[in-house]
Amino acid sequence: MGGFAKKAIELTRRDFLSWLTAASLSVTGFFALGTLAKQITPPTRSPEGLTEVGWLAVGTVDSLTEGLPKLVEYGEEWVYLVKKADGLVNAINAACPHVRCKLGWNANTKRFDCPCHGSAFTIDGKRLYGPAPRDMFAMKLRLEGKNIVVGGYADA
Ligand code: FES
Repeated sequence: MGGFAKKAIELTRRDFLSWLTAASLSVTGFFALGTLAKQITPPTRSPEGLTEVGWLAVGTVDSLTEGLPKLVEYGEEWVYLVKKADGLVNAINAACPHVRCKLGWNANTKRFDCPCHGSAFTIDGKRLYGPAPRDMFAMKLRLEGKNIVVGGYADA
């Protein structure tokens, strides 16, 4: 009787260890498949390595004033929406192309100024001067009715 009980306990322990091994392999396999899937379809990245978030509604045309850039969030980043005299809207990334400091709109000089190293840009994002190596990054944009939808970097 005592031997039978001991054998029953061993079976239970063996079953538990088998179950634990199977569960560990399943979890490991799950994460391995996830890693493999990421390698097959890597996430889209911005020129600076940030994860792009695809098309996002960021505002409405009616909320914009001509000649006054509006700063909006786009995923991990900031984007300026600019309504032009012809009524069209531009979206340009607010990160300075030098080392990504957030550009500020200067209403007096009508340009974007970088607080870090002094680069400056026109309202269209064209580089005026400073260490920035290029114009501001243009963003893809489409209108859905009055909604402004931004979709990642246009010129990367
Ligand atoms: S980060 Fe803008 S000039 Fe350096």
